[in-house]
Amino acid sequence: MSESSSARQRKGGQGVQGTPPSESDRTSSETESKHSSTSAGEKSNVGGFGVLDVIRILGGLLLLSSALSYFVTQESITWGWRPWFSKPQHVMAWLRGPVLLTDEELKGYDGSIEGRPIYVGLNGSIYDVTAGARVYGPGGGYHFFAGRDAARAFVTGCFAEDQTPDLRGVEEMFVPIDDDSDPTAAPSAEVETGDELKRAGGRTGVKKSELKIRREKELREGRKKVQATIEGWAMLFRGEKGKPYFKVGEIVREEGWMDKLPRRELCEHAQKSRPQRKDMEKGAG
Ligand code: HEM
Repeated sequence: MSESSSARQRKGGQGVQGTPPSESDRTSSETESKHSSTSAGEKSNVGGFGVLDVIRILGGLLLLSSALSYFVTQESITWGWRPWFSKPQHVMAWLRGPVLLTDEELKGYDGSIEGRPIYVGLNGSIYDVTAGARVYGPGGGYHFFAGRDAARAFVTGCFAEDQTPDLRGVEEMFVPIDDDSDPTAAPSAEVETGDELKRAGGRTGVKKSELKIRREKELREGRKKVQATIEGWAMLFRGEKGKPYFKVGEIVREEGWMDKLPRRELCEHAQKSRPQRKDMEKGAG
């Protein structure tokens, strides 16, 4: 077959090769297309149920839910859910872009300067707590949390001593404290040396390796509790617990900032609040 004849064939379906479609060809293809569009319409309307009907039903359910929510909560048509984009201050903060401040700059947002917002730092994030000026502003019961990142104090409760974001070693407050008379006594953080482990192990026949594993497990669990505590406060400051606070940005710190700080002891209040192993074992038994 020559090139020109095969080209003609590709145009086929339009009557005899190379000629325009005849009247009968047109009629039969129109009938076909009418036929196929009817069957497509039938498919999207199976059982007399179209897309519009689905939209109507969903809309009706939404209206019903809103009415029920308002009836139950007496104030909200979304069952109390308030997305951030429904709060003007959040939207403004979002439009302004993130606030980036150093720890030093953050000090200027503790409520002492008229007209400035009040910020609380927590684990590197900055939150606007201006709505809580009574608590965080000058003279407020928690003013010491304003204009700084005192993440450590949020966990230990040592408001005066722990005004620092350095969380190293805080997990110790969740590790059970051992009574010396306890035959299975494990070394506390202060006596973490191999000798102490050996002494505790040797005294009771409990293997040094077992004590070490237990301690590592307890420290791991302690770290999880520290993170959960911080996250609990972060939720409050993000406005997820009903308070009109919101996140505005991040604290800018140089790489390795924490390594430059001396390691801290667990403050007295946190040390005293540590669980006693003997009480825990009694509870478990
Ligand atoms: C780890 C220990 C604690 C931390 C980190 C802490 C922190 C806070 C913070 C940040 C607020 C303000 C919450 C907000 O913005 O609405 C607050 C409120 C409050 N806290 Fe504490 N707190 C601790 C322990 C305590 C204890 C032991 C008491 C009671 C003796 C207490 C009593 C109060 C009261 C009464 C308020 C409400 C203040 C107000 O709205 O005027 N807190 N706490």
